[in-house]
Amino acid sequence: MAGRIPQSFIDDLLARVDVVDVVDSRVKLKKTGKNYSACCPFHNEKSPSFTVSPDKQFYYCFGCGATGSALKFVMEYDGLSFPDAVEKLATQAGMEVPREQASFEVRQEQQHQPLFELMQKAGQYYEQMLRAHDKKHRAVDYLKNRGLSGKAAKFFGIGYAPPGWDNLQSHLAGQGDKETIKQLIACGMLIEKDDGADKYRTYDRFRDRIMFPIRDARGRYIAFGGRVLGDEKPKYLNSPETPIFHKGRELYGLYEARKIRQKLTRFVIVEGYMDVVALAEFGIHYAVATLGTATSEHHLRRLFKIVPEVIFCFDGDQAGRTAAARAMETVLPVLDDGLQARFLFLPDGEDPDTLIRREGKEAFEQRLNKADHLPEFLFEHLKSQVDFDTLNGKARLDQLAAPLINRLPRGTTLRNLMEKTLQDQIGTESAALKKLENQPDSEPPPAADSHDQLPAHLQEEPQEPDIPHVDHSADTLAPLVHKALSSLVKKPSLAESLELPDADPQSEHERLLIEVLKKLKNAPQSSSVGLLIQWIGTPYQAELQQIADNPHSQIQPSAADIGSVLKQMNARTLSAELNVLDGKLKRGEKLTDEEKTRQREIRRQLHSIHKKRARIYSQNPH
Ligand code: UTP
Ligand code: MN
Repeated sequence: MAGRIPQSFIDDLLARVDVVDVVDSRVKLKKTGKNYSACCPFHNEKSPSFTVSPDKQFYYCFGCGATGSALKFVMEYDGLSFPDAVEKLATQAGMEVPREQASFEVRQEQQHQPLFELMQKAGQYYEQMLRAHDKKHRAVDYLKNRGLSGKAAKFFGIGYAPPGWDNLQSHLAGQGDKETIKQLIACGMLIEKDDGADKYRTYDRFRDRIMFPIRDARGRYIAFGGRVLGDEKPKYLNSPETPIFHKGRELYGLYEARKIRQKLTRFVIVEGYMDVVALAEFGIHYAVATLGTATSEHHLRRLFKIVPEVIFCFDGDQAGRTAAARAMETVLPVLDDGLQARFLFLPDGEDPDTLIRREGKEAFEQRLNKADHLPEFLFEHLKSQVDFDTLNGKARLDQLAAPLINRLPRGTTLRNLMEKTLQDQIGTESAALKKLENQPDSEPPPAADSHDQLPAHLQEEPQEPDIPHVDHSADTLAPLVHKALSSLVKKPSLAESLELPDADPQSEHERLLIEVLKKLKNAPQSSSVGLLIQWIGTPYQAELQQIADNPHSQIQPSAADIGSVLKQMNARTLSAELNVLDGKLKRGEKLTDEEKTRQREIRRQLHSIHKKRARIYSQNPH
């Protein structure tokens, strides 16, 4: 088994290849200003919001958030694992991939190989029983009643453990092969009966249940969850902890989410097996569930290695709120710059399974898109616990918020924003936080965890390098665009009175201006902090933060200034279209009636734009 690929090699490789070439050989790119653009290959769209930056060597889609280096692009576009993508790019660049020695963990995993194989055989047996057992109809009907398609059942490897005490044992261990029986006990598939005799008296753990195989990130079968067909208790039975299964580490659905070719930009964490399956059935392939335990820090670190955004999904009731508060505490220390956690509360009595069947994919994704950002949830949650309108209540809020904010990694943007927000809320500097920050770190550093070091096949892409700041273009519009962007970032409420332009952006700032406006139109924000939080996890976070923080900027945010820039961008796009039409006439070609109407319409629009522009310029010369 191959060992790890050294990080230094990956750095060399990324320095050698050009993301523009890598993308362009798969998706035709068009040059727009310094950057390139195209329609995003990872989601359906009509106008291009996918950009590739040669300076920064990354791609980013404003529409779906897909982003990364050349390596990530090859992984997602070609559907390759990390090591395979490295291999492919290296071959093209004429480099050979060096490997480090296989680690202790990798060797230990090899020793568990027979257990993985046995569990896979068990999974195949259950699937077979769902197709062929005498009593299969009960199971098939149950799944059909729940609205599950055969396709989804197959994708998740769902099966049926028939009634009876020794089906699995006789299938896998025949007349009583001792070695196999021992292994089946070790995997939790057989239970030993304690009758005092020195004999293997064993029986199947899972009987007459719908079986959900739990597979690790590499697709190896490591455990099962089994659901009763009726109302008996317990509803779900899960494999116990075994040498190959650790509940606190594994997530149901993670393997399946990564198996299909899709850009993964976020995960949603739900409670149940059926929730994951139902969401996938409806096209939401990025749901995972913890296995009857609370979400652990390890779970979260694992997900955040793959995506920058995790959305927790909870019931809307009090229990759900309490669970969310607990999840919030767990996630805080994990939130390095660029990562974000969000919270979605479902209507009473619904879970994702019932809700998506009732509302469909679009409505459910709408809910996800509107999920509370962590800062909103944190302050809203704490404020509900104090009498915020009194001074005492504000002091109490400070006491409650400070230890939470103190859990955030130091020096991160999110932490700074949260500190600022707390200050704004209580109207003064946080005394509680100051006290905590002056204390030496009381928590010892986390113990080194060998399982965190994944074997080579599972390595995620290394962290993207910090995104450098955007250059200014020489374009005449550039200073005005920059000014407009600053205005909007400083006073996001201006978006309300502005219209989205129908213009092709010609520079990165122009694009950013349009995209910020688009976001604000979708989710209005009244403060810079609210706006900035929405951009956490995107390559533009640093740029927008810098614009917001610029102390030298004397700009008085004004909607008219922004509006005029947007109009000029519109005018430019319209002029280009008009040129094409005029060009036709010049070449002696005839225009269709439709084109003639369009030509008049453009002239009319341009005329009105220029009139207004003249007015603004006379007040505000540049
Ligand atoms: P829920 O009780 O919310 O059930 O358990 P569900 O997922 O909606 O299941 P359906 O729709 O009735 O089939 C959520 C999760 O909690 C764990 C399981 O992992 C389950 O998916 N659980 C629940 C158990 O481990 N044991 C139980 O008895 C019940
Ligand atoms: Mn359910």
